[in-house]
Amino acid sequence: MRDQHLDTLLEIKELHTYFYTYEGVVKAVNSVSYLLYRGEITGLVGESGSGKSVTAQSILQLVKAPGKIVDGEVWLDGQDLMSCSHAEMQAVRGRKISMIFQEPRAALNPLFTVGDQIGRVVQLREGCSRSDARKHAIEMMRAVEIADPQRRANAYPHELSGGMCQRVMVAMALSANPLLLIADEPTTGLDVTVQAQVLDLIRTRVKSAGSACLFITHDLGVVAELCERVIVMYAGRVVEQGPVAEIFQNPRHPYTQGLIASTLRVDIDKPISTIPGTVPDALRLPTGCKFHPRCPYAEEPCQYEEPEMLEAGHGHTARCHIVSGRIEREMQEEAWALQAPRVE
Ligand SMILES: Nc1ncnc2c1ncn2[C@@H]1O[C@H](COP(=O)(O)OP(=O)(O)OP(=O)(O)O)[C@@H](O)[C@H]1O
Ligand SMILES: [Mg+2]
Repeated sequence: MRDQHLDTLLEIKELHTYFYTYEGVVKAVNSVSYLLYRGEITGLVGESGSGKSVTAQSILQLVKAPGKIVDGEVWLDGQDLMSCSHAEMQAVRGRKISMIFQEPRAALNPLFTVGDQIGRVVQLREGCSRSDARKHAIEMMRAVEIADPQRRANAYPHELSGGMCQRVMVAMALSANPLLLIADEPTTGLDVTVQAQVLDLIRTRVKSAGSACLFITHDLGVVAELCERVIVMYAGRVVEQGPVAEIFQNPRHPYTQGLIASTLRVDIDKPISTIPGTVPDALRLPTGCKFHPRCPYAEEPCQYEEPEMLEAGHGHTARCHIVSGRIEREMQEEAWALQAPRVE
């Protein structure tokens, strides 16, 4: 059940994005559906290779060959993005959706100074003069904690460190004042203090503009701090989603439980546990529930039957046979501590 008072900005329905490689078809995003709401930050989490970035690229239609969006719908503010022309999509990317890419250096244009690149975004939005755009660019560079922004505005991306390029990307994305901000690991590689300031800036901008933000991260601590909702992906599927408070208190999918147990140290005396096993090979996914080979609760139905996404609480859904009642077992956090190998 969805909260009625919330205002949907983006709706993804049954999205399928596949990569047609020589070894076979990689189903990077497999029937993913979710909603993003105005004024809210939604965390997208999952281990490496779970399909987080490809989901974001699919929203923007930036999936490169051999990848292809094979099915699904993406609606932004009532606009059907899947039926947009190339030119319409360019306009959406410039004005309605901004993205902070996971690899900022690759996403910046090496031929223009960073001041010019941020300024161009402002000019596109405001139609202002070049000198006003430059002033705004310098203000934004200061806001993302770039020291001496007057001088650094004249630098080319290759003259800046990776962390600095990341902050330039954040400045560019926020300058566009988008309806939707997609931030793909926007603070990885930044010092903790700068990270906190950048997160604060993203939060303030999203809230004051009433936009929506999809925040992709490995860091559940950041999700707990920043996000209202969280979507958990595993092997190209959404396995659980819902309000952050609800999911942290009552995670229903064993994978989410494992992620939480491996991130948050509830009791200082207890070591942090890890999820046993590794992410499956995308070309050789297991049958049934994709998580079953690593799941401490797996039983027979999990091996041959893929669970549906089912209601697990208010605005909370999970894809697990435990939720459907196929497996009747009380899930205890303790089980993870007993079964999972420990990090010394
Ligand atoms: N160009 C490509 N060719 C083939 N497979 C690809 C390509 N790009 C992505 N994939 C596959 O798609 C799947 C999802 O990748 P994606 O980049 O979305 O993962 P992610 O969740 O963002 O991981 P990370 O946390 O490491 O950024 C992976 O199995 C990956 O190998
Ligand atoms: Mg990624």
